[in-house]
Amino acid sequence: MGDSRLLRVAELVDRFDTPALAELLQDMRDTMAAENGAGLAAPQIGVNLQVVIFGVEQNSRYPDAEEVPFTVLINPTLYQLDEEMEDGWEGCLSVPGMRGMVPRFKRLRYTGVDPQGNPIDRTVSDFHARVVQHECDHLYGVLYPMRMKDMRQFGFTEVLFPNQEIMDE
Ligand code: NI
Repeated sequence: MGDSRLLRVAELVDRFDTPALAELLQDMRDTMAAENGAGLAAPQIGVNLQVVIFGVEQNSRYPDAEEVPFTVLINPTLYQLDEEMEDGWEGCLSVPGMRGMVPRFKRLRYTGVDPQGNPIDRTVSDFHARVVQHECDHLYGVLYPMRMKDMRQFGFTEVLFPNQEIMDE
């Protein structure tokens, strides 16, 4: 946070199934795994393209985590389905060591394409919807603190959640 590359609108990907795209996705997967993240957007590693990855497997270290299938989502569009919002704690690999309470739409539809250019069209809710909203915000220069309504619910992970292992987005 503070790096101006996180505040840009990312550019659309216009070529699929290329070595450059494969290399970017490998970098993103490696970064997400090394940082124990639930998701990552290309601008977080300095690449100004509309590419996000996310996914959470069932894991005994995070018994409460909702499973989200590993997904590469390129050129995404999010569609609001209704007005219902839900508050939830979020963290971000670009805001290390912090957590904040963020309102998100509880349900949404998203479309985009995979690395081969095949269409993706899903309607999701709860944590899956939250992760998608968080990652796609990165493509428009929005970090989760900018979505917060109550800065009293913003703090250090180790203070808010002592002795817990927490995933970041
Ligand atoms: Ni993030």
